[in-house]
Amino acid sequence: MKKLVSALLIMAMGVTMLTGCGKSNKLTVEEGKLIMGTNAEFPPYEYHEGDQIVGIDAEIAAAIAEEMGLELVIEDMAFDSIIGAVTAGKVDMGLAGMTVTEDRLKNVNFSDTYAHASQVVIVKEGSVIDSVDALTGKTIGVQLGTTGDIYAEDIEGATLERYNKGFEAVQSLLTDKIDAVIIDEQPAKTFVSQNEGLVILDEKFTEEDYAAAISKNNEALLAEVNKALAKLKDSGKLDEIVAKYIKED
Ligand code: ARG
Repeated sequence: MKKLVSALLIMAMGVTMLTGCGKSNKLTVEEGKLIMGTNAEFPPYEYHEGDQIVGIDAEIAAAIAEEMGLELVIEDMAFDSIIGAVTAGKVDMGLAGMTVTEDRLKNVNFSDTYAHASQVVIVKEGSVIDSVDALTGKTIGVQLGTTGDIYAEDIEGATLERYNKGFEAVQSLLTDKIDAVIIDEQPAKTFVSQNEGLVILDEKFTEEDYAAAISKNNEALLAEVNKALAKLKDSGKLDEIVAKYIKED
C-alpha cells in the first residue's frame, strides 16, 4: 500500500512538473508564431499595400520572428486597442510606432527602443499658426489614443478632434474643419507629400522613442525580442529597413 501511494505521488509530481514546464516554455500566444498587434494607418511604419501590411514595423517584426524561428502573424486593429490586446494575451507584441510613455509602462513592458520620433504640427500653407504657442485656443486634429492626443490636451483652450485614423485628421484640415493636426513626424511627412497645400512647422511638439509593447507576464519574450533587436542593430539590418522607407531630405 505504502509503495502504491508513493508511486502515485511520484507520478502526480511528474505530471505537475510536466504541465508546469509546458506553461513556462510557452513563449508566445500560439506556439511557433509571433503575433504582432498593430494599426496599419501609419505610413511608413505600417500601412496597407494591396492586401498586405507593409512598412518599417512590419519588416522589423518579420526580422525578429526570423531570428526567433517563428512565423510572423500581423493583426490590424484600432491603435487604442493594442495595449489591451497585449495585456489580454491576444497578441505577443504591439509594434505600431508606439511611443514609450510612463503611463503605458504601468500596463506593459517595452522592449529596447528602435527609433527616435517626434510629434509635429501640420497646418495649411499660409496658416496663422507658425509655432507651437500659436496652437492656443485652436481646433486640433489627432489620432485617438496616441501621444499626439494625450499631450495636446495640455494646450490651453484648444479643442481636440479625435479621429480613428491619422489620415482622416489630415482630410479635415484640408477641408478647413480644423486648424492643425498633431501627429508623428514620419506619417506627417508622408501625408504632406501626398496632398497639396500643407506644411509641417519647424518647431517640434515633442521628442519620443518607439518600442515594442510586451505583456508584463512574459519577461522571457521581452528578453528574446531585445536579443533579436540588438542583432538587427549590430548587423545594420535595422538601418537597412529604415532606409528603404525613409529617404533623408
Ligand atoms: N507614436 C504615437 C503613439 O505612440 C502614435 C502611434 C500611432 N501608431 C499607429 N500605428 N497608428 O501614441
